[in-house]
Amino acid sequence: MKPIIASALFFTSLFTPIALSQAPPPCDYKTFTQSIDHFGTNNNTFQQRYSIFTEHFKPGGPILYFIGEESTYLDCANDTILYWMAEELGGMAVSLEHRYFGNSLPFGNASMEVKNVKYLTLENVMADGVAFVEWLRTSVPGAQDSKVVIASGSYGAYISTAMRQNHPSTFFAAISSAAPVRGFIRADNSSNGHNPDYTLQAFLIASFEATMKIRNAFTVMHDAIRAGNGDTVQKALNLCTSPPNNESVIAVLDQIYDTAITLTLQFDYAQSRPGRIPIAHSFDLMLNHSIASSEPLDILEYALSLFMGDDPLPCVNWTDFPSIVILLSPVIQRQTFSYITCAYNPNAVGTMGHPRVFANNPHALLSWTSVIESCKKTYNVTPLTEDVVWSRFKISPKDLDISTRIIFSNAEYDPTSGQAPPAVPLSDDVCQSRVLWTNGMGHREDLFAPEEGDKIEVVKTREKELEILKTWLALCEDD
Ligand SMILES: *[C@@H]1O[C@H](CO)[C@@H](O)[C@H](O)[C@H]1NC(C)=O
Ligand SMILES: *[C@@H]1O[C@H](CO)[C@@H](O)[C@H](O)[C@H]1NC(C)=O
Ligand SMILES: *[C@@H]1O[C@H](CO)[C@@H](O)[C@H](O)[C@H]1NC(C)=O
Ligand SMILES: *[C@@H]1O[C@H](CO)[C@@H](O)[C@H](O)[C@H]1NC(C)=O
Ligand SMILES: *[C@@H]1O[C@H](CO)[C@@H](O)[C@H](O)[C@H]1NC(C)=O
Ligand SMILES: *[C@@H]1O[C@H](CO)[C@@H](O)[C@H](O)[C@H]1NC(C)=O
Ligand SMILES: *[C@@H]1O[C@H](CO)[C@@H](O)[C@H](O)[C@H]1NC(C)=O
Repeated sequence: MKPIIASALFFTSLFTPIALSQAPPPCDYKTFTQSIDHFGTNNNTFQQRYSIFTEHFKPGGPILYFIGEESTYLDCANDTILYWMAEELGGMAVSLEHRYFGNSLPFGNASMEVKNVKYLTLENVMADGVAFVEWLRTSVPGAQDSKVVIASGSYGAYISTAMRQNHPSTFFAAISSAAPVRGFIRADNSSNGHNPDYTLQAFLIASFEATMKIRNAFTVMHDAIRAGNGDTVQKALNLCTSPPNNESVIAVLDQIYDTAITLTLQFDYAQSRPGRIPIAHSFDLMLNHSIASSEPLDILEYALSLFMGDDPLPCVNWTDFPSIVILLSPVIQRQTFSYITCAYNPNAVGTMGHPRVFANNPHALLSWTSVIESCKKTYNVTPLTEDVVWSRFKISPKDLDISTRIIFSNAEYDPTSGQAPPAVPLSDDVCQSRVLWTNGMGHREDLFAPEEGDKIEVVKTREKELEILKTWLALCEDD
């Protein structure tokens, strides 16, 4: 069963466009002519989408550049923290879509064909950013000598970290929120420093009682199915069909509900975030409901319902696992992201497969053998191992220990924190990179534009990030 789960996770069929339950926020996008390959093996160009806000820009002020994430659409720069920072710093806020995502497709809808997708390399992604900045310098008056601060989150923070490390003279500083820079595949299968138990610990120390009740809910589900009472489970969870007494089926149900419950933590935001989770304070709601509930299976049902908003499922079709995964995080453009996992980001938590937190095998990691096989078969690509990623992109823990001007922002409510840099040694150099930890913060929550009702901890973290940037812009020398 393991290979089936892993391949479903990584290779859900994604040519079909993913319907967001709500249209993306409005944005006046523009496009910029970008090279398909910055290294001369294809001299054609494509149109790369960006957004720009210069109303607060003063000549010489910083370029605050948001790197598009693995999403079906580009975040408008005014929907990011950078717009607020631009106002505070006399800067311009821009965002550039990641190549092969959203509308920035070098070969249109044939972009994912093997012969076309080969230009999706981290080297090209980084060079896109350099070319974009060079073009901004010539096209926006007063920007010739502007310092550039890049920011992004999650997979995007892996890129922002690599960009600062590999192109330090272009990218003066970086905000890398929820940066998964550890815990990649290792050639010798050794333990890779990813802390899968991080997530369980976050649950336990948020509410011991709720965590035990959630864990019990899984046990109740397992026991009922194993006792041949699939019908009871079907009714309580609104499943389309009754689950048979079959360990593979139990594993699929575990994965569905474990993912949903884990995502209530990861996406615990102070605001509704369609595409991630349509309800605010999902983790708090999940914990409160678990404590109050007297029906164990109701806890599992509730978790999934939080993702449906006003659009409840007629029934949960557990035989169609890939669709449920998409439903749980529609904003991710999965096929492209799967390719990236194969090509240069061998992320041990993959696109959705966080190690299970509550299910019967809390330490289960995805089967890398099956991922490697799928990468070879689908794209003729062998995933890089951790040591290669670290040395090629200069992001090993040793490199980051001596890095400068990267803010690593880690959130308490985020499984990715189990993969993020835990610390940077103390130094007398104020320009040294810093790690910030924020209690009660969800996955890259600090990067959203400030809004009324935001968590006080997140507000404080944004203010801290702004002061760090002011200090670096004033006191640190160019590389
Ligand atoms: C961002 O700017 C766009 C125009 O580019 C505008 O339509 C939209 O309302 C703005 N969003 C916010 C949050 O201000
Ligand atoms: C790209 O252009 C360069 C310079 O004109 C040329 O040397 C190279 O052969 C071209 N590459 C391809 C693949 O056409
Ligand atoms: C690609 O796009 C074109 C033009 O929009 C469309 O006619 C064609 O059916 C699409 N092909 C696929 C495989 O989706
Ligand atoms: C790593 O584990 C896989 C099975 O998951 C095995 O095929 C491979 O040989 C192992 N590699 C080493 C170096 O032990
Ligand atoms: C259990 O379910 C799996 C997947 O649905 C199926 O392939 C397998 O044959 C089933 N096993 C039994 C014993 O029914
Ligand atoms: C959860 O319960 C606590 C304690 O009763 C309450 O203060 C909090 O507002 C509740 N959270 C939500 C999101 O309803
Ligand atoms: C569940 O999904 C399977 C696989 O996609 C499909 O064949 C089946 O018709 C679906 N069942 C329901 C009730 O939607």
